[in-house]
Amino acid sequence: MPNRKISPGGTINGVVELPGDKSISHRYAIISALAEGSGEISNYASAADCRSTLECLRGLGVKIETKDRVVHIVGKGLNGLQQPRKPLDAENSGSTMRMLSGVLAGQSFRTVITGDDSLRRRPMRRVIDPLRQMGAEIRGSERDCAPLEIRGGNLRAIDFTPPTPSAQVKSAILLAGLYADGITTVHESVCTRDHTEIALREFGAVMEGGRGAIRIHPRPKLIARRLNVPGDLSGGVFLMAAALILPDSSLLLHNVGLNPTRSRVLDFLTSIGAKIHVPNLTSRDGELVGDISVAHAPLEGGEISGAQVAEMIDELPMLAALGPFTEKGIEIHDAHELRVKESDRIAALAAGLRAMGATVEEFPDGLFVAGRQGLAGREAREGRSSGKSTGAPSAANKPAVAAKPLRGATVDPHGDHRIAMALATAALGAEGKTTIRDAECVSVSFPEFFDTMDRLRGAS
Ligand code: S3P
Repeated sequence: MPNRKISPGGTINGVVELPGDKSISHRYAIISALAEGSGEISNYASAADCRSTLECLRGLGVKIETKDRVVHIVGKGLNGLQQPRKPLDAENSGSTMRMLSGVLAGQSFRTVITGDDSLRRRPMRRVIDPLRQMGAEIRGSERDCAPLEIRGGNLRAIDFTPPTPSAQVKSAILLAGLYADGITTVHESVCTRDHTEIALREFGAVMEGGRGAIRIHPRPKLIARRLNVPGDLSGGVFLMAAALILPDSSLLLHNVGLNPTRSRVLDFLTSIGAKIHVPNLTSRDGELVGDISVAHAPLEGGEISGAQVAEMIDELPMLAALGPFTEKGIEIHDAHELRVKESDRIAALAAGLRAMGATVEEFPDGLFVAGRQGLAGREAREGRSSGKSTGAPSAANKPAVAAKPLRGATVDPHGDHRIAMALATAALGAEGKTTIRDAECVSVSFPEFFDTMDRLRGAS
């Protein structure tokens, strides 16, 4: 699947069972490996990233068997991991590298963990610094990127506040805290996804606190579990967006993870006009799970900034690409983190959406993607007549011409799965065909994406 052509139009109709959540799958696999006994994880994510985690765990001597979407893991206990014979390869997966760094910091043997070109460019100082504070020896590249060479053991408990909100960093420190000499505390000013905390408790870790400060006691006895991974809301958002874009669409997503630290995107979509219902809400293994129904609706547009950024970090590409289908556009600020994801997502979105004819203003910390009212929509949305203090050019003097609909184009997702899916979804509402270059990158999180979209459009 090198390039993928998208024909626009049709409607999205039907019911979808989403693949397992990527974030939860990583955590269940890692913690199962550290537990005692044999564990079973059903509906394990089909994402390539989660396969990378399993491969790294195998490299550490963990016995893992997979059949269909069920993963059996024979836990090694906290002290049973073995020194790998060759470097661990996290491939494209930042979660794998950062979270496993926390585990490796607790091992007295030396491990090298590396990744693909994209991952080797991503910042690792955010885990290197606190893990060094805990006493691990870690060497990265000159720019504190991967490959990382880690030798740990005898860790000191720390009291740590990540400078940038990050669930991956929080998780790395909590996992290292399992090996510390006392209670490790992680403070958070913005609440990031809490799947690690929930999963560790499910496996028997002793933890206190919650939002704001999480404390973990060292050396618990983790007991293997049988767990079922809820469907991945972050992947489901692309399908929901397709239903919002295409008239007469109506979609039901079944068995989706609705942890409140992940479901802010539903609140945002509702706030801009989407009609979303969440029937059958229930709690399973500490995680909220439910169905989501969504139908086509006119969208007003809106702004995302501050704490919302961390709460919707993986959904921002799709929300930005919804801009042209809203009245007043979508504006995102405080999202510097998007520049250090699998690609520079701000630049990749701006380039892709502009190639499709969208009006886009790029800021250091975000972007504005104009809606049907063009640049005037931004002014109207904010009820103001001059630019903000963001360094963004003011739209005040720009003509109030309505934006043209998107047109098909050839776009480059820069190897980034979420950019490929965001542009492919926007392409459904464009005039003419769009070609997504190197579209196979979607397999990093949602290998079934194109097939699912085709099936839902075929059902109309
Ligand atoms: C993830 C956390 C987020 C997110 C990533 C998965 C996780 O990254 O963007 O796709 O599973 O913990 P940060 O924690 O670095 O923001």
